[in-house]
Amino acid sequence: MSPQHDGSMALHVDQLHAAYGSVPVLEGVSLHVAAGEIVALIGPNGAGKTTLLRAVSGLLPSQGRVLLQGRELQGRAPQLIVQAGLIHCPEGRQLFADLSVEDNLRLGAHLRRDREAIGADVERMGTLFPVLQLRRRQRAGSMSGGEQQMLAVARALMSRPVVLMLDEPSFGIAPLMVERIFSVLRQLNAEGLSALVVEQNARAALDLAHRAYVLEGGRVVLEGPSDELASHPGVREAYLGL
Ligand SMILES: Nc1ncnc2c1ncn2[C@@H]1O[C@H](COP(=O)(O)OP(=O)(O)OP(=O)(O)O)[C@@H](O)[C@H]1O
Ligand SMILES: [Mg+2]
Repeated sequence: MSPQHDGSMALHVDQLHAAYGSVPVLEGVSLHVAAGEIVALIGPNGAGKTTLLRAVSGLLPSQGRVLLQGRELQGRAPQLIVQAGLIHCPEGRQLFADLSVEDNLRLGAHLRRDREAIGADVERMGTLFPVLQLRRRQRAGSMSGGEQQMLAVARALMSRPVVLMLDEPSFGIAPLMVERIFSVLRQLNAEGLSALVVEQNARAALDLAHRAYVLEGGRVVLEGPSDELASHPGVREAYLGL
């Protein structure tokens, strides 16, 4: 079924191609995130998951279409894409290690014009992730990996995303931290946030998401509701170790 370009469609990626030099990496990827949906993107190392997020965010040249709530963003500058509400929480977090937790949060809002609401959102992040409130004045780099991942997610939320794209939020962090982050994502999703979550941890991703895509070799090879994919024999064997 082809998605409609109406208000129910938060993000629509259509036939996206991208390459590093002459090496093609994305070979016509199409996917969508409906408004209020969490969608997972799983696949092996080197499948092109990070490349897809980079291309959609305007960090890498691409061909094809990227629509956010029906607005064409493909080929636009990364800053404009962020301003439009498509936010990328990158692989490896990329925090400012020497800045405080609060300064990192405020940097997440640097393109916003509603100055007075930013302080309230900093408070909100401290409620969602109490450890960030506790460590507000500490250097971001002094925190544990899991705490830094919470900060990276919170910083992305500070830009008030229409669609939040997360690259491997569970990578290298303790299971309790993953649970905490995913439970915040569930809570925000219940309040209307749409998200595209790239994960190596297929089990956690399928548990979190409403629908999922499997990317292999730069192509979508499977898609469907998460519970259907979780019981698909190929997915069970390749991604769930069953
Ligand atoms: N900067 C780069 N220059 C050249 N090739 C790259 C670059 N970044 C990634 N690639 C290649 O592009 C392909 C896709 O990489 P990508 O990082 O998008 O995969 P991924 O699905 O995110 O993998 P992982 O699960 O390991 O994060 C791989 O073959 C990779 O070697
Ligand atoms: Mg990656």
